[in-house]
Amino acid sequence: MSHTGTDRATGRADTGGAAVEVTGLTKVFGKGAAVITAADGIDLTVPAGQIVALTGRSGSGKSTLLHLLGAIERADSGSVRVGDTEVTALRTRRLAAYRRTVGFVFQRFHLLPALTVIDNVLAPVLPRRAGFDHHARARELLEAVGLADREKAHPAQLSGGQQQRVALARALIAAPRLLLADEPTGALDSATGTAVMDLIVRLGRAHGTTVLIATHEDHVADACDRVIGLRDGRTVADSAGG
Ligand SMILES: Nc1ncnc2c1ncn2[C@@H]1O[C@H](COP(=O)(O)OP(=O)(O)O)[C@@H](O)[C@H]1O
Ligand SMILES: [Mg+2]
Repeated sequence: MSHTGTDRATGRADTGGAAVEVTGLTKVFGKGAAVITAADGIDLTVPAGQIVALTGRSGSGKSTLLHLLGAIERADSGSVRVGDTEVTALRTRRLAAYRRTVGFVFQRFHLLPALTVIDNVLAPVLPRRAGFDHHARARELLEAVGLADREKAHPAQLSGGQQQRVALARALIAAPRLLLADEPTGALDSATGTAVMDLIVRLGRAHGTTVLIATHEDHVADACDRVIGLRDGRTVADSAGG
């Protein structure tokens, strides 16, 4: 792994986005007659800083691809390289360290109900050093998502759109080089979803983060640099011509 001269653990410096290189990526679920090939030899190159929509109907493999990129699931074969990290070759401790360099936003926010907004944003970095720098960055991020005045609120006091904006701030707290969003607007009404999507794109661009967003909503895909279509675990369309 190259040394960038920045302290990624504190999230103080943005290192920019990581390029993503996927080769022959395969993931199979189940056994025998019930076997499902959720990723079927996917080849994909995403330049650093690109904002990519992954489209395709339910069951086409969008979530599986994101989980493989974020090392939430382990591939059966093929490789995932993110920046200069060969993700598919990592084991245990280094795998956990890699996961901390990836930001995730899910359809259903997954905020911790007992924690305040700012503590939710800080949660990914709390096990390390909850220093002043983290608090300052958390406040900056809450400001960026328009929730500076709600830092002491609890998730249940917020609307769905506000909760997703907290989730976005949390995903960015550790200055990830890769941001993965799985149907981030799927639980929101369309105006709120559009606002959340605009924020993801704006913050992704501001930090140079590479972003992949699974969606089946056209307006979400339209906001991205590139649209990749999946079907049956394979890429079947790519607006970049790949
Ligand atoms: N943990 C799992 N166990 C069994 N099958 C799974 C699992 N995760 C996903 N699948 C199957 O893999 C295929 C792709 O699923 P998924 O990646 O969730 O698609 P999408 O996100 O596009 O809806 C589907 O057929 C789904 O049922
Ligand atoms: Mg999915």
